[in-house]
Amino acid sequence: MNIVILAAGQGKRMHSNLPKVLHPVAGKSLAQHVIDTARTLAPEKLIVVYGHGGDVVKSTLAAPDIAWAEQAQQLGTGHAVAQALPELGPAAQTLVLYGDVPLTTAATLKRLLQAGKDGLAILTVDLADPSGYGRIVRDATGQVQRIVEQKDASEAEKSIGEINTGIMVMPTARLADWLGKLKNDNAQGEYYLTDIVALAVSEGLPVRTAQPAGEWEVLGVNSKVQLAELERQHQRNIADQLLVAGVRLADPARIDIRGELTHGRDVSIDVGCVFEGKVELADAVEVGPYCVMKNVKVGAGTRIAAFCHFEDAVIGPDGVLGPYARLRPGTELGPEVHIGNFVEVKKSIIGAQSKANHLAYIGDAEIGQRVNVGAGTITCNYDGANKFKTVIEDDVFIGSDTQLVAPVTVGRGATLGAGTTLTRDAPPEALTVSRPKQVTLTGWQRPQKVKK
Ligand code: UD1
Ligand code: CA
Repeated sequence: MNIVILAAGQGKRMHSNLPKVLHPVAGKSLAQHVIDTARTLAPEKLIVVYGHGGDVVKSTLAAPDIAWAEQAQQLGTGHAVAQALPELGPAAQTLVLYGDVPLTTAATLKRLLQAGKDGLAILTVDLADPSGYGRIVRDATGQVQRIVEQKDASEAEKSIGEINTGIMVMPTARLADWLGKLKNDNAQGEYYLTDIVALAVSEGLPVRTAQPAGEWEVLGVNSKVQLAELERQHQRNIADQLLVAGVRLADPARIDIRGELTHGRDVSIDVGCVFEGKVELADAVEVGPYCVMKNVKVGAGTRIAAFCHFEDAVIGPDGVLGPYARLRPGTELGPEVHIGNFVEVKKSIIGAQSKANHLAYIGDAEIGQRVNVGAGTITCNYDGANKFKTVIEDDVFIGSDTQLVAPVTVGRGATLGAGTTLTRDAPPEALTVSRPKQVTLTGWQRPQKVKK
């Protein structure tokens, strides 16, 4: 089949410089949702009709399998599809989708394609309040006759609850002829794609309808209010899928997944967490409240306390992290690693059972196993121009408030005394300390307040 995605509308009510179809739901643009779903149907041709914000839309969505058709002036949905005619392949069916209706499922579209196998099929839905939509007009036997737009409808037609979602599949071979016959002598002065339904009926072609599993599948976005509603709906759907799959969510209404979250068994997630990109939580991972994770892999049994922020990191099994831990890109933690509050790790590998429990910066470091990094430790990895590496071998103990001026290596089993500023390598198994000698001055007195 061919798939044509209509995305030329301006979206005035978004009050935004960003073209409407580029606004995000779950971190992905409306149009990208539609494109991704379209791809799962393996169309022979995938055509996007663009207009407003053309360059941005094109450059943002560009992909080798997408053909572009420009609709310079928005003269109606029929006119929009006509712009795509030269790009259509010979496939029997052409499916029209809207770039601002992001959540239609592939399963629903497959049912629609099936219904339209030997004719035309419309995705319709019954609404308690159908106002604003095109209505499906049927005859006494229930056969679809035509679609009438709200603005052209009689009072009787306005009382019809079954509406046109806009998503439709039609025979490619008849399309050019039908689109050529469209007139704009209607209330809006537009070329309505919906008028092809009456043309199909007049030619004796079967016109059928299919329905989505949920109303949310056909909701479009015209305003930030609708965008926010759709976001919540989508997030709730994802949350429900997670619950069904066995994830414990403290509150399915308070989780945001902007990407793909995969999980093992007995994973639990507290409120307010945001997952972006690809996040993998293995068996029995516990995520505390208000954590943000982007492209992160967490090993089985790891416990993450509140307010952690992780990005591009791999965390081993049975770790203990947070609260307030920050893992930046390139962090790799082995099994049973502890990273505590106000500890920042960047582009560093930390071996099994090592701990940095309080207030530290670990950047460009390679840390072995069973290392204890004391509170306030800092790897000075940057001299203002270049970055250097710190190597800390197995079983090292680093006293509090130590600075490791990279490049520097701490040998296996070494101990660094608290407050050390390490500028040369520390030998293994020894105590290294750099610190002014402690003095006590006898006879010294605290200053006294001068009486006036
Ligand atoms: C259209 C349908 C209506 C249906 C409703 C569902 C027609 C005539 N009417 O009405 O029956 O109930 O959608 O939401 O088809 N677009 C273009 N170029 C244009 C006009 C529209 O690309 O010249 C795109 C828009 O960006 C949007 C989609 O087509 O993605 C629908 O356009 P919109 O103006 O929202 O159509 P409605 O008048 O709401
Ligand atoms: Ca609309």
